[in-house]
Amino acid sequence: MHSWIELFPVSASLHADAVDHLYYFLLIVSAFFAFLIFVLIITFAIRYHRSRNPIPQQLGEYPELEFAWAGIPFLITIVMFTWASKVYMDGEIPPKGAQDVYVVGKQWMWKLQHPEGRREIDELHVPVNTAIKLTLTSQDVIHSFFIPALRIKQDVLPGQYRTLWFNANRPGTYHLFCAEYCGTNHSKMIGSVYVMEESDYQAWLAGSDDPRPADAGAKLFTQYDCMNCHGTGQRARGPTLGGLYGTDVLLADGRRVLFGEDFIRQKLMDPGSARIAGFNPDMPTFKGQLSEEQIIDLIAYIKSLTAEGSRERR
Ligand code: CUA
Repeated sequence: MHSWIELFPVSASLHADAVDHLYYFLLIVSAFFAFLIFVLIITFAIRYHRSRNPIPQQLGEYPELEFAWAGIPFLITIVMFTWASKVYMDGEIPPKGAQDVYVVGKQWMWKLQHPEGRREIDELHVPVNTAIKLTLTSQDVIHSFFIPALRIKQDVLPGQYRTLWFNANRPGTYHLFCAEYCGTNHSKMIGSVYVMEESDYQAWLAGSDDPRPADAGAKLFTQYDCMNCHGTGQRARGPTLGGLYGTDVLLADGRRVLFGEDFIRQKLMDPGSARIAGFNPDMPTFKGQLSEEQIIDLIAYIKSLTAEGSRERR
């Protein structure tokens, strides 16, 4: 696209290209039919003007014509639907092994943390040609994490985790926005995304001594005496957590749920709402005691526990 009329923002990922191609198609189809209808209005207005046809004629039936004008748009919309579903699903499901980044939105800033530890505010540094998976939550109201150059946008909700993923293929600096009105300084909840060469990224990562979320989580685990119930000892009153992450657990009410981010958060905030089968409802609530970042740290720690009870260095 020409820079004097920026119909589309810069594209910095294959997903962005895919979204653009779909939009070109939608634009072309819409423009074609808008033009066709416009031309037909004028043509018919002249051709069938009352002065040329003083006595109305009864026309016959044209089933072919009716099938055509129902069938052709139907086929075109099916193409749009299939194509768009494919683009959407590709953008929705992160590939295995994607690198994690945790995002917490709050009035009015984005707080991000890399699994190696480095924290940042309103800035996101990522390596080029690497799949990045964002896990996002809000600590107050609904925000929306939006990177136009990557064609990704996700509502960020309090009390829940949402994920987004991307693989940026063009180094550069791009806009980061909040795309949901979230109060007075919503318009200032903006920042930059830096897509860097791998070596630059590693150098950047090394420039901080923020603890890794999993390590900070291990500390919290001890600090809040979680070991007393979730340790491996005989007196364990709760399930041992090693190897549990990512598996299905059976609840006391018969439901099977994924032991993942949302479940851990729910257990910490409202333990009674999801009791694991075979255990007493002894777990206290940590509501009001843990910040969103601390919950993410604990999740990172639990995720790092292997079935043998040791920690996995990721
Ligand atoms: Cu956060 Cu708008």
